[in-house]
Amino acid sequence: MAKLMTNKHISTICFLCMVLINLPWSTLATTTVFNVLNYGAKQTGLTDTSEAFIGAWEAACETSGPTSIVVPKGRYLLHPVQFSGVGCNSGGITFYIDGTIVAPLDYRVLGGVDRWVGFDRVDGVTIAGRGFFDGKGASLWDCKKGKNGDNCPLGASTLTFTSSNNIVIKGITSLNSQLYHIVINVCKNVLIEAVKIRAAGNSPNTDGIHVQVSSEVTIKNTNVKTGDDCVSIGPGTKNLWIERIACGPSHGISIGSLAKSMDEEGVQNVTVKTAVISYSTTGVRIKSWGRPSNGFVQGIIFEDIVMRYVWNPIIIDQNYCPHNINCPGKESGVEVSNVKYERIRGTSLSEVAVKFDCSGSNPCTGIELRNINLTYVGKEGPTQSYCKNVVGKVKGLVKPQSCLNSNKDFHFPHLSG
Ligand SMILES: *[C@@H]1O[C@H](CO)[C@@H](O)[C@H](O)[C@H]1NC(C)=O
Ligand SMILES: *[C@@H]1O[C@H](CO)[C@@H](O)[C@H](O)[C@H]1NC(C)=O
Repeated sequence: MAKLMTNKHISTICFLCMVLINLPWSTLATTTVFNVLNYGAKQTGLTDTSEAFIGAWEAACETSGPTSIVVPKGRYLLHPVQFSGVGCNSGGITFYIDGTIVAPLDYRVLGGVDRWVGFDRVDGVTIAGRGFFDGKGASLWDCKKGKNGDNCPLGASTLTFTSSNNIVIKGITSLNSQLYHIVINVCKNVLIEAVKIRAAGNSPNTDGIHVQVSSEVTIKNTNVKTGDDCVSIGPGTKNLWIERIACGPSHGISIGSLAKSMDEEGVQNVTVKTAVISYSTTGVRIKSWGRPSNGFVQGIIFEDIVMRYVWNPIIIDQNYCPHNINCPGKESGVEVSNVKYERIRGTSLSEVAVKFDCSGSNPCTGIELRNINLTYVGKEGPTQSYCKNVVGKVKGLVKPQSCLNSNKDFHFPHLSG
């Protein structure tokens, strides 16, 4: 039977929680605490604890006022579990995770669902602590990289929030996710801070943090080493702020892929400030399929970024069309405008350190480069820029020399007349 914790438990465990998130005593004094151990969770990592987690969640939801759910040190095997905020009375639930939450070793147990730990329609949920989510993804990656890779399940994302508001994810580590590590989908007001993300550099589709159809999302002080995008930014993202992030190995910070569908929402007002991107295929990228769409990218700032051994440090690629399938006319309908690159320096692994490969039907406009110093590390030749269907301007020192056309009245030959 569900039991409340004793006072003794509350005071010892919550002293830890407070140290972890620097809460004043007064906050916790009014918080009701539920410990998953009191709902039958075993700390061996061998028996499924999803019922215990759901039990604690339901008890927390029935309690009015702020509540916390504590996951003490230990290993907790967890099958796919979805926490729903529907009917939840709580004025905010904090999960303190000090333990390690492990996925089943057999990837097929998660394989059929797209979320391992999911939160849906919640308000005021915080995930905090020094704990781990271990997705045990390696065997699925091997399957995907094998001969019959197309027959493998897509896999499950580790931590997903959908249709939720006022979310904090702080301090935890995500290891070896099968698919994306963290997904923010249709959410508003989200803070992701001091999170660590780890998966092999060659693990397929293991994006670090994926944001889409969401606004007021902040990602700070975060460190991502993974096999796909460090942060991937999908359609409908608005007012995203990324500050002090280290990426790599990874595929960098990427807006896109866009133009997946015709009526797609735009991406607007994204700032990436103070980042180190190392040993990554791309640094900062805007990417869209070469096909029609009503989507757009507008008001983007990339500033104070160090690139270390990055193949394509700065890139806009609007002609993405692997295997030339499904790209009628091959021109992207996504309009890219007002993108500022400022104080970006470091090393490029390819000669073309700055590449703007924009759409013939919707050229990129308002592109600005200011104080850029990128150097090709190889011997084949000088560092270069590439420009196609783009206008913009340059301020301060820009190396490699820019090929942007700054003439506002510039007419793209194939568009005039
Ligand atoms: C852009 O987003 C930031 C948060 O990332 C916000 O502070 C700012 O007000 C937004 N600007 C506009 C014009 O909405
Ligand atoms: C640009 O970077 C190169 C290589 O790091 C460095 O030698 C050079 O001094 C830098 N130039 C400026 C103007 O900062």
